[in-house]
Amino acid sequence: MSEIRVESYRVRRIGAHSHIRGLGLDENGRAIMVADGLVGQAEARQAAGIVVKMIKEGRISGRGILLVGPPGTGKTALAVAIARELGEDTPFVIMSGSEVYSSEKRKTEILMEAVRKALGVRLTERRLVYEGVVKNIVIRRAKHPLVPYLTVPREAKITLATRNEEVTLTVPEEVTQQIVELGVRKGDVIWIDAQTGRVHREGRVREFQDIKTYDVETRRIVETPSGPVKKEKEIVNVLTLHDLDMYVAAQRSLVSIFGFTMEREIPSEARKQVDETVRKWIEDKRAAIVPGVLFIDDAHMLDIEAFSFLTRAMESEFAPILILATNRGVARIRGTDMESPHGMPLDLLDRLLIIPTRPYSADEIREIIKIRAQEEEVELDSKALEKLVEIGSKYSLRYAVQLMEPARILAEQRGESKIHVEDVEEARKLFIDISTSVEYLREYEKLFLK
Ligand SMILES: Nc1ncnc2c1ncn2[C@@H]1O[C@H](COP(=O)(O)OP(=O)(O)OP(=O)(O)O)[C@@H](O)[C@H]1O
Ligand SMILES: [Mg+2]
Repeated sequence: MSEIRVESYRVRRIGAHSHIRGLGLDENGRAIMVADGLVGQAEARQAAGIVVKMIKEGRISGRGILLVGPPGTGKTALAVAIARELGEDTPFVIMSGSEVYSSEKRKTEILMEAVRKALGVRLTERRLVYEGVVKNIVIRRAKHPLVPYLTVPREAKITLATRNEEVTLTVPEEVTQQIVELGVRKGDVIWIDAQTGRVHREGRVREFQDIKTYDVETRRIVETPSGPVKKEKEIVNVLTLHDLDMYVAAQRSLVSIFGFTMEREIPSEARKQVDETVRKWIEDKRAAIVPGVLFIDDAHMLDIEAFSFLTRAMESEFAPILILATNRGVARIRGTDMESPHGMPLDLLDRLLIIPTRPYSADEIREIIKIRAQEEEVELDSKALEKLVEIGSKYSLRYAVQLMEPARILAEQRGESKIHVEDVEEARKLFIDISTSVEYLREYEKLFLK
């Protein structure tokens, strides 16, 4: 049985930006100095808020955004904040410009996949499901067939309850696996498709909400369903065009039997077929396109071929919103001898709204370092904090942030739980910043291999 999973486009968790919860704007769309994990950069945040609004109102397709600014000024952080603001129902694809260079796939194929992952299709259908609050769940594990010391989930016994009824189901391996992957716990409201076995978690009921967990993800609070556990339900699925491509391609190729479909390029007829089907669904009012965001970080790494592809993609019928970020000024466009602002062709630049990010003041750096320290659960004494602020102002914010973890380990080695200024200084000697490393190489050039 082929499975399409709904949540395939979930935002990838990025360690360095895990403290960011949103754009931190007030009801008038102005940046609150410190909010949602973001500090300062008020104008860029306000601009990003407008972009979020345009995306939510569907008024931006065929256009794009370019975030420009020096290294460590929060471009990637802003893109992550935009993703958080848009929420789970808007596909958001994050990639780096350098990801288009792969030995297995063509550049345009990689970009095409990314574009299609950033396009959601909202499908409405009636399905027969088992729905209820998870009252109990017992997972039976069995030995892994190849690796003797591993076990795999084989079967689960799960009790679902509504206000009126309680039913215990024994579900097979595919369903059990989804239950494990989704981290379904007692108190979650889920439904299981009676025919395909797809599992969906809707949220948690309130009574279970105060149980303390270390789950960063806040789950939606939902009501306990009423009526029978087994019932017809109108289900709204947001799949991506890429999910559908994979589904169609998998049915067509032998390769899918061995589970290698991920590695293969998707044949263009599969995409054509998907587009036609989706167009028909839209005509029948069974589906709607949800334009998501394709965010390409370090966009100066793209080359002319990639840029032309993106320019064309933005003009096609189904186009995602493109957000690019770069820290380059005038630079050569890769794959050409031409120089251009931000190393990008002018016809693409013409279609982009540009948001600048500016270097931080010492006060802003101090706030960001404090937030990061909290996030990484490290304790800084006040002198250590000031040292990091100084390093952040003189070299880069990223460098200061990166020194925190080594400094914590150095403190630990001294038997201290708090980072002192000497730990920061030692960490800085052990791990040098870029300009020092360039100087170092220049000094010792003759001794290095050429
Ligand atoms: N305004 C801010 N508030 C809170 N944290 C921030 C802010 N700006 C940046 N940071 C954090 O500082 C670090 C560096 O910022 P980020 O990676 O976003 O910079 P960048 O502009 O993308 O740099 P580069 O050009 O090198 O890619 C990250 O950990 C980021 O989350
Ligand atoms: Mg960045």
